[in-house]
Amino acid sequence: MPGEKSANPTLDAGVFAVRLENQIYPNMESKAIDAGPNITSFLHETRVFPPPAEFAAQANVNSQEDYDRLYRQSIEQPEEFWGTQANQELCWERPWDQVLDWQPPFAKWFSGGLLNVSANCLDQHLDTPVANKAAIIWEGEPAENGMPGEERIITYRQLHRDVCRFANVLKRNGLKKGDRVIIYLPMVPEAAIAMLACTRIGVVHSVVFGGFSAQSVADRIHDCQARAVITSDGGYRRGSIVPLKKNVNDALNLKNAEGDLLTASIGKVIVLRRTGEPVAMQSGRDVWWHEELRHVGIECPAEPMESEAPLFILYTSGSTGKPKGILHTTAGYLLGAKLTTRLVFDLKPTDVYWCTADVGWVTGHSYVVYGPLANGTTTVIYEGAPNYPEPDRFWRIIAKYGVTILYTAPTAIRAFMKWGEEWPRKHNLHSLRLLGTVGEPINPEAWMWYHRVIGGGRCPIVDTWWQTETGSIMITPLPGITPTKPGSGTRPFFGILPEVVDDNGVKVAPNTGGKLVIRKPWPSMLRGLWGDPQRYQDVYWSEVRGSYFTGDGCRCDEDGYFWIVGRIDDVLNVAGHRIGTAEVESALVSHPSVAEAAVVGRPDDLKGQALVAFVTVKSGIQTGQQLRNELRNHVVKEIGAVAKPDDIRFAEALPKTRSGKIMRRLLKQVASGTEIKGDTTTLEDFAVLAKLTQVEE
Ligand code: WTA
Repeated sequence: MPGEKSANPTLDAGVFAVRLENQIYPNMESKAIDAGPNITSFLHETRVFPPPAEFAAQANVNSQEDYDRLYRQSIEQPEEFWGTQANQELCWERPWDQVLDWQPPFAKWFSGGLLNVSANCLDQHLDTPVANKAAIIWEGEPAENGMPGEERIITYRQLHRDVCRFANVLKRNGLKKGDRVIIYLPMVPEAAIAMLACTRIGVVHSVVFGGFSAQSVADRIHDCQARAVITSDGGYRRGSIVPLKKNVNDALNLKNAEGDLLTASIGKVIVLRRTGEPVAMQSGRDVWWHEELRHVGIECPAEPMESEAPLFILYTSGSTGKPKGILHTTAGYLLGAKLTTRLVFDLKPTDVYWCTADVGWVTGHSYVVYGPLANGTTTVIYEGAPNYPEPDRFWRIIAKYGVTILYTAPTAIRAFMKWGEEWPRKHNLHSLRLLGTVGEPINPEAWMWYHRVIGGGRCPIVDTWWQTETGSIMITPLPGITPTKPGSGTRPFFGILPEVVDDNGVKVAPNTGGKLVIRKPWPSMLRGLWGDPQRYQDVYWSEVRGSYFTGDGCRCDEDGYFWIVGRIDDVLNVAGHRIGTAEVESALVSHPSVAEAAVVGRPDDLKGQALVAFVTVKSGIQTGQQLRNELRNHVVKEIGAVAKPDDIRFAEALPKTRSGKIMRRLLKQVASGTEIKGDTTTLEDFAVLAKLTQVEE
């Protein structure tokens, strides 16, 4: 069937690009779009899907003229625009007195204001019909023999009570405004409860994804000097148990090179009972969540917080070995999360909204917890995997709860395509009215499948581009008005001014590849990197002076539609997860057998990119399958399963320039099996290249 064959991904000049052949996509021109020296986009998709009339007729934003006028205003008079939005969208304890204080690159939004995030997500709904509506519909993992899993439905009133009680538990354990807490929990309602409870009393949370290792937990504790960890005895994943508390115990014993505990700041560990598996508890330090609840009341006033009070830190990979602690603050973040959720997902009071992201990632923060709850929406949380016990788990959940909006990742969509249409076809998906994607570029083929098989041809798709750093969606269709083109995030959201620029920071002509930058500050932007203002300036504000550099390559077409090509720094996007190559390299070289390592991405049909590690070993070390397995496990131990290399190739030497820099461009080409192209004149030793292309498998 046309359009159903797999795309032929190729790498060009170090940038992930998708090449689509004419014969597979008859309505697509497959010419290379001019690119500038570094960035080529091969994708030229010509299909356009206007919003279905029925959808447009009921949409929250349904007039292109209104959008154009409002967008223009948001760019020309940003302070007026954002000031109005802040007043309309948020509940303030004390009004702000200045919209923006911009000392580039440091922004303060809504200075002088006081508000509380949990009050905006919960208390504001209590005197309204939303009070007894489901805030969270939770579906648990255990689902043996095809039986539905556990379920819990928590109303806004109940969630408010649970959050107040747990906030009292935090207080009882000595936590105060400004303290940092690590949340390392499975996808259970308590993850949202813990986050909201922190915000209620001004404690700054840092959620760590359950797929990260003890070492990663310890590094994050150390970096933000966390005082407590909130975890559980375990979580379920495909029928097995993820030993979260054991990982925390291991993390709390880890030492640095000088022999000092990395985690000396930790005073308390609060443990949720989820699996019932026995776990080691250290008396004085470790307490059970359910036992603590017995000692606290249900009243907990929301602490009025300053607009710029730190709200959360979320660690994400960068181009060095050390993850960056992205800092978000209170008012601006909440405004971005709330407004985008409402407009991009066209929220209605009757919606059952499901964003499948884990709360360990930013999408889980903004679009599972804060954005939906601030809007009084019912948010679905699912603990497990999409193919456990069978590949129809998502479709079963959609039919069971009448989900109306589904927001998921291209990687998941590609997996569904692979598993076959018969799985969604088994279930009634008619409740769906809108689909979304996020996290990585979506290939048009996956877009078309999503549209046809899951959306039944009637649901608009919002392909939303944003980052941990941006806090909320930046480039996206508005589903009632924006004609969509498969593979494009289309146009900027209100108040956002993205541009594609060349190396000198000059805007390039339409359909020319370049760097994606954002020209103006926006309320939900990161405020910095925890404890490292210099790195914040260097990473984001030095590449193109005066603008925020996203790290992504992009092209903007003749209609002003943005097409993300992929990362242009040393960050890979594996199954929608950001992985820094330097982090994986430093994990590999910390193994005693390894001399040198270089990690690059190669295109992968399912995951977008796969991790390939080129490794040279110390003399006398035997290479082979055993060492390969050992190194893979070593990376899992150092970082976590998310960073496990797909491929490890042993090499006698790595290709280097005369000045000793590893030539990643060549390695990428070797890894993806493409012909070696481009300039190799700076390569020190041609023999190395010849050998690499015949590496043992
Ligand atoms: C990529 C996830 C293409 C991009 C919200 C970005 C995307 C990185 C899209 C951020 C999209 C995210 N189309 N690429 N719709 N959304 N990306 O911080 O490379 O985990 O820089 O945030 O994912 O990943 P992060």
